[in-house]
Amino acid sequence: MSESNEISRRRALFKLGLLINGVMAAILAVPFVGYLLSPLRGTAGHGYKAWVSLGPFSGFPEGQTRLATFHNPTASPTDGQTANIPCWVRHIAGQNFQVFAINCAHLGCPVRWFAQSGLFMCPCHGGVYYADGSRASGPPPRGLFTYPYKIDGDRLFIYAGELPTLAADAGTVAGGRKPCVG
Ligand code: FES
Repeated sequence: MSESNEISRRRALFKLGLLINGVMAAILAVPFVGYLLSPLRGTAGHGYKAWVSLGPFSGFPEGQTRLATFHNPTASPTDGQTANIPCWVRHIAGQNFQVFAINCAHLGCPVRWFAQSGLFMCPCHGGVYYADGSRASGPPPRGLFTYPYKIDGDRLFIYAGELPTLAADAGTVAGGRKPCVG
């Protein structure tokens, strides 16, 4: 093989390598760019951070706390049943509600409501919360986290798409009620 043929072969391989690297970089950049643009997709009540219906508020009798489930607006089609997120709905009176995240404020185990004792209890380390979600005893450092909610027509909506946190509690949501901090 002549020297000029060897050089042109090396150049061709070098260009091929550049092309493959470019294609791989483009493929790897897709999820990153999608992540950066994700806030722009959460418009008109769809996608990330959205008002999600818990159903007719007549399904939550006054003075009672009931389990509800909503479809996670950030779920993908492959998430299956894990896209259905439970929460506790307390109908205080009239249009006043509290919607609690099901996760214990200690390490996130699902809490259960015991109507007879009027307490939420966590099965993991014995955390206990009062009916209004405030901390009663045990390791949780605070009360249950709550979702902002609103009533539209005859339906109860919560602002879902991210777990409620202290940061979420500190802010307000346009068109909704600021959650009560337990
Ligand atoms: S996770 Fe609930 S008390 Fe620890």
